[in-house]
Amino acid sequence: MSTTFQLDTATSRANPTPAPMKRLTIPAIRQRKKDGVTKEPVVMLTAYTARQAQLLDAHCDLLLVGDSLGQVIYGLPSSVPVTLDMMAAHGAAVVRGSYHAAVVVDMPFGSYEASPQQAFESASRLLKETGCAAVKLEGGEAMAETVAFLTKRGIPVMGHVGLTPQAVNVLGGYNARGRSEAEAAKIVGDAQALAEAGAFAIVIEGVVEPIAIAITQAVPCPTIGIGASAQCDGQVLVTEDMLGMFERVPRFVKVYENIADTISGAAATYAAEVRSRAFPGIEQTYQPK
Ligand code: KIV
Repeated sequence: MSTTFQLDTATSRANPTPAPMKRLTIPAIRQRKKDGVTKEPVVMLTAYTARQAQLLDAHCDLLLVGDSLGQVIYGLPSSVPVTLDMMAAHGAAVVRGSYHAAVVVDMPFGSYEASPQQAFESASRLLKETGCAAVKLEGGEAMAETVAFLTKRGIPVMGHVGLTPQAVNVLGGYNARGRSEAEAAKIVGDAQALAEAGAFAIVIEGVVEPIAIAITQAVPCPTIGIGASAQCDGQVLVTEDMLGMFERVPRFVKVYENIADTISGAAATYAAEVRSRAFPGIEQTYQPK
């Protein structure tokens, strides 16, 4: 049965029918992996808007308000220019549009790296202003102290290792990481340091399968892969990538729909109807109740 929404004008919330399931908690996600085994893989997709969240919510365990919104929504060249204000606005929209999935909001570049205190200020702002359940930050061992600082102060943290897009200027591009033995060992060590610091889950991006397996076996919390093979405890994709919104997507992305053609086809039909004066008038579209 598909979900329909009724707008409550008093609260501006769109209430779903059928009634939603209870929202998943971060401890429940963490507990998916017990004694190194994850029976039910963790399903995560990115979401940036309330309506997108409504449509994805029932199918996902986690909705990630990724800083990939810089490229996807704002047409920026990378996630580096994304601000805390942008993350707070989109995070709040996604929380308003969801009822079931736990919402995780990315900490943008420059909002957490300077010190654990800076990270706490930024993360607590995101929790207060959006209602999200957790934050995600990029980086390995160097961020372990910050992850422990936040976790001990009531802020659940998702880690992100391997290809870390905010570091594009240091990495020199978005190529897969861990090609040398030393780099592969460093990535596994990064994930272990984050897990020991209290991360409830770790995104592994852009690494070959043996590294994903090594990390997944080495850490007690769920690993969530993106371009990191099917051997992680869960998976995440950028929703617009898997919907076919862009001509070019990373090689590992399975494209499930071609929404770009649907949108431009509808716009072309609309434009043709307006130009030929075939656009339906109100008498053709308005159906009195
Ligand atoms: O910003 C983002 O969308 C992400 C995912 C790709 C994991 O970090």
